[in-house]
Amino acid sequence: NFFYCIMKYDYLLEKAYEAQKRALPSYSKFYVGAALETKEGEIILGCNIEVPSYSLTICAERTAIFKALSDGKREFIAMAIVGDSDDYCMPCGSCRQVIFDLCGDIDIIVANKKRESKILKMSELLPFAFSDKDLK
Ligand code: THU
Repeated sequence: NFFYCIMKYDYLLEKAYEAQKRALPSYSKFYVGAALETKEGEIILGCNIEVPSYSLTICAERTAIFKALSDGKREFIAMAIVGDSDDYCMPCGSCRQVIFDLCGDIDIIVANKKRESKILKMSELLPFAFSDKDLK
């Protein structure tokens, strides 16, 4: 049920709020944190990092994924994403494609600054996705 679902990933959300504090949103001032859980139960954190050449900014989600992959992690079960807004912090279009391609149909837990959250499947966030299956 809904309440159980929220509690289910509480530990992952806490980690995402921890990651959010390390964000470097020098220009937007919008702090985002992500926590990615591997199949083995390890948690890798990511935050958004902005640079003066704005378009080279990287989102919290992709920071976490690239950190995890470069450390040799390959299988994931869930990612929590937290932002500074009243609404849930939804992953951007670019991150949706990268999450789906590199993590598969994992659980995505989105939260707002009041610590309200909900769980979605990655496939709900990117229906009719282009994927490696199309290349076969
Ligand atoms: N941002 C993320 O890190 N993840 C999201 O899901 C949404 C947007 C960052 C990118 C940029 O540093 C700032 O938030 C404002 O767009």
